[in-house]
Amino acid sequence: MKGIILAAGKGTRLYPITLPVCKPLLPVYDKPMIYYPLSVLMQAGIREILVIVPPDDRQPFVDLLGDGSQLGIHIEYKEQKVQRGIADAFLIGADFIGDDSVCLALGDNIFYGPVFSRKLKAAARLDQGRGASIFGYYVSDPRAFGVVEFDGDGKAVSIEEKPKHPKSNYIVPGLYFYDNQVVEIAKGIKPSARGELEITSVNNEYMKKGQLNVVTLGSEYSWFDAGTADSLYDAAGEIRTAQRSGKMIGCIEEVALKKRWITIDGLLEQAESLKKTQYGQYLYDIAAELDDAE
Ligand code: G1P
Repeated sequence: MKGIILAAGKGTRLYPITLPVCKPLLPVYDKPMIYYPLSVLMQAGIREILVIVPPDDRQPFVDLLGDGSQLGIHIEYKEQKVQRGIADAFLIGADFIGDDSVCLALGDNIFYGPVFSRKLKAAARLDQGRGASIFGYYVSDPRAFGVVEFDGDGKAVSIEEKPKHPKSNYIVPGLYFYDNQVVEIAKGIKPSARGELEITSVNNEYMKKGQLNVVTLGSEYSWFDAGTADSLYDAAGEIRTAQRSGKMIGCIEEVALKKRWITIDGLLEQAESLKKTQYGQYLYDIAAELDDAE
């Protein structure tokens, strides 16, 4: 399975902060926002990743993440020249996806929770490699999101994008797993009233075929769309509090090490330049722990 991070939004809901800096490079507490979706793709076992960036803004992403080899993965970059909506990621990424299945992560969505990597790996398997898997997450005000409606048996029966009168409190967060049909489906959908190729239209196509699996994430999971000043601030605060337990969230080097995609020496090399920070110290700590265990 391939991975795509859509990090091409202008971040207009965060102006003036995002006038000079792209949203996915802003800090969420102690690390850049893009570390969170990247760590999620890596936890799902995905090692080939396309980052879709705004026009003429590739360089800061390359400065941060390079070609991914320091993490034992491969990262490519492509620009989204015109903002045509989330489903455009599959048109921009069609060659990159090739014959494979694909997971799309939105660059401003943050997830964490217990045994999340097991949930991710299950979603990445799809239904015997076919169809789509998405999540449903309870929020008190779902009107700004894709909203999924369930019938009495808990089966998803509709998804609406930003409904004025939501049929449930379950929103569809920005992490989507698809088989290869997604490229053809994305080519076939029409722009919505707001002029975008909606990811909700893609999900509805899979639902029509009876190939959409919606997995609910319970309250033990946290999810943020860090696209506004308030949600960015809240996300940073929650990450800070959650990390007091000693467990780092969104630590890409830790995921790479646990997956054995890099060695302890490889991790220590990267920790060196970060050693003045808690983040760097955490890398030294996990390297020492693993060294002791071996
Ligand atoms: C997008 C999707 C929406 C989804 C949300 C998650 O909304 O269109 O379905 O629930 O991301 O963050 P947008 O960021 O375009 O408002």
